[in-house]
Amino acid sequence: MTDGLKPEDLEPDAKLVEKEFFEWQERFQAVFNPDREKLVDSLKAQWERASLLHSAEAALSELKIEHNRLLGKKSALSRLKKKIGFVNPTYKSVVGQRVQTLERNIKAAIILAEDRLKHFIAELSTERESIDVTMPGRRPRPGHLHPITLMRERIEDIFVSLGYAVEDDREIETDFYNFDALNIPEGHPARDPQDTFYTTDGFALRSQTSTVQIHAMQRRGAPIRMIAPGRVFRRDTPDPTHNPMFFQVEGLCVDRGITMAHLKGTLAEFVHRLFGPETRTRFRPSYFPFTEPSAEVDYSCFNCGGKGCRICKGSGWIELGGSGMVHPNVLRAANVNPEEFTGFAFGLGIDRTCARIYQLDDIRLLFENDVRFLEQFR
Ligand code: DAH
Repeated sequence: MTDGLKPEDLEPDAKLVEKEFFEWQERFQAVFNPDREKLVDSLKAQWERASLLHSAEAALSELKIEHNRLLGKKSALSRLKKKIGFVNPTYKSVVGQRVQTLERNIKAAIILAEDRLKHFIAELSTERESIDVTMPGRRPRPGHLHPITLMRERIEDIFVSLGYAVEDDREIETDFYNFDALNIPEGHPARDPQDTFYTTDGFALRSQTSTVQIHAMQRRGAPIRMIAPGRVFRRDTPDPTHNPMFFQVEGLCVDRGITMAHLKGTLAEFVHRLFGPETRTRFRPSYFPFTEPSAEVDYSCFNCGGKGCRICKGSGWIELGGSGMVHPNVLRAANVNPEEFTGFAFGLGIDRTCARIYQLDDIRLLFENDVRFLEQFR
């Protein structure tokens, strides 16, 4: 009975197991330290994460990997254990006991370390979840509407109270709705790519909210009374490279027997409600392809009452927008019979009016999204 392995044959493997275990102890030393502060320091130093809790969690997951490396199927220990079967029977029990002790020590140490870390993590979680009732509260900062939105709502309220419906529609339009239906002929400068943003062939960002007139009449027929506030896109804005867009409200009233007098009365009533009953209106002859006759509308300055001041640039009048009697071609394009119905339409600038009312020196303030400016409208 001289064959089989001798204890010294297993020595290199046993040394390797001991060496790995020793290195592991070095690395996780801090976890065994009963002093909480030392544990915290070393977690922060070795596993520096977003928070102490995260560091402890990182240490624990590394510990699980180590568990497998030291005790798993491919570990040096497992290799050593397999060799015991080949040891000479004389030494078997001594060698066996030694390996068993080694394994028990490693297991105990790892379990202890895991327990300690799990405990610590649980402790940290509870600390984080507990509420410190003495802490000062955080004041909620509710948002508020943009001044252009506030202006739009004021305009909507006035027209809704006059029996107008609020309509909305698409911002990308076909040439038909943006131009043809509005009696804007081929070759008109508004159709020029210099003025209009074409997307793909035959489509453009709408350059006026008058497009909504056509959609609304096609949907609902006549009689109809509607306003359509919304964005329009064109290059003839004060600052087209930065802001080739502005807000406009289109108005339309189509019924039997509607005349220019109704148009004047409606816009007069509108400025009375917006600026006060003393406000006067003035109509100047103008031209738009979609109206005939057409007029430009001004109102007397809300600040000086018409005497002339900085706000109205000395003239006493402020421009409100364009208007006129809807062209028969426009009614026809929307399947409304111009023999039976007549109507008026108008287009007002929302941001322009907003800038006047709030006396802004520069209309671009409304589009810069600077909260220091916007917060003044809460
Ligand atoms: N669509 C015109 C524009 O964008 C505004 C306008 C003028 C609308 C006269 C109208 C109108 O309905 O009658 O400048």
